[in-house]
Amino acid sequence: PSNFPSELPKSTSLLNYRHGLFLAPMVRIGALPTRLLSLEYGADLVWGPEIIDRALMGSERIVDPQTQAVHFMKDGKSVFSTHPVERPYVIFQLGCATPAWAYEAVKLVTQNDDVAGVDLNCGCPKNFSTTGGMGAGLLPRPDLLCDILRAMRRAAPPHVAVTCKLRLLPTEEATKALIRQICRTGAVDAITIHCRTKEMRPREPALLNRISEVVDTVCEETGGKMPVCHNGDSWSWKEAQQIMKDGKVTSSMLARGPEKNPSCFREGDMACVVDEIVPKWLKYAVMLDNQSGNTKYCLNTLDWNSSSGGRRGTDGALTRQEILKVKEGVARAKTNEEMCAVDRYKGRIDVGRC
Ligand code: FNR
Repeated sequence: PSNFPSELPKSTSLLNYRHGLFLAPMVRIGALPTRLLSLEYGADLVWGPEIIDRALMGSERIVDPQTQAVHFMKDGKSVFSTHPVERPYVIFQLGCATPAWAYEAVKLVTQNDDVAGVDLNCGCPKNFSTTGGMGAGLLPRPDLLCDILRAMRRAAPPHVAVTCKLRLLPTEEATKALIRQICRTGAVDAITIHCRTKEMRPREPALLNRISEVVDTVCEETGGKMPVCHNGDSWSWKEAQQIMKDGKVTSSMLARGPEKNPSCFREGDMACVVDEIVPKWLKYAVMLDNQSGNTKYCLNTLDWNSSSGGRRGTDGALTRQEILKVKEGVARAKTNEEMCAVDRYKGRIDVGRC
């Protein structure tokens, strides 16, 4: 709106974007149980799934008196759920193409201090995003993109960070020009760069050698004050260390790694999905009343053979056939409680002790 004061408020956020491994924003997958599990296994910050401004606007904030979970409810459904335990680490990601709506949405989600940061999605290449001018649809409109970031900075309390997640543009020159313009808004605390262009598919290797375009430009513009976070093809703690070393960055954001096994954030071996990750996931799902359709979707996407050994060992590990049977049992169940009652888990998931 034209009545905005001309001076942009300064961020006082102390969030550490400079160091660590972060859970990437993922539609549906980035639900509250995924975020809590990722934190449990060592993620330093966790992004929620992209929420479109229109979906959030008009929602009502409700606190569950039993669990203290916070739900932004609309038409009887939770649009976004969070819990005070993740408050210092959770970033709300916004899908948006209009500064005034960004302002309203950020006001709404930060009104009760439920999130540590708000992030603008400038990378989603899917049609539903780009046709509305959102996601990667913002990349060719840098003036609009920067206006949205300014609106977010104005709407958020000073201690709440404002960030954006971008893709590379086709040329180095274009990427640098965009990064320069974003830095000059003074609105953002950090930038995440997904090292693929809008046209690239997820199976194509990330262009890790191009991260320096962003790192060097941000360094020149901010005197090294603003952190740059890497994203793209780091699947585990170990891979992230190598990528950060090569790319001269100190933070990395992981998506498909934790989608398959959220213990990828820890330094040692990955945890067994069938016997450790799924029971923990279900425990959070029951405790926080996660929507059962979402629970099923997330559990189905996990790599159930991960760290199981895939053959019967002295530790009683299941065979692949047996794992498949457990997975199918979970897929047939209708509620979170029924999923906890499949043979392998019956009596083992004690939500009372959460
Ligand atoms: C994504 N990605 C994504 N990005 C984003 O900014 N907002 C979002 O809501 C989503 N949703 C989403 C869902 C799923 C299931 C996947 C796999 C990915 C993109 C994601 O954050 C990341 O940029 C890419 O997946 C690249 O990182 P990885 O997978 O190579 O670690």
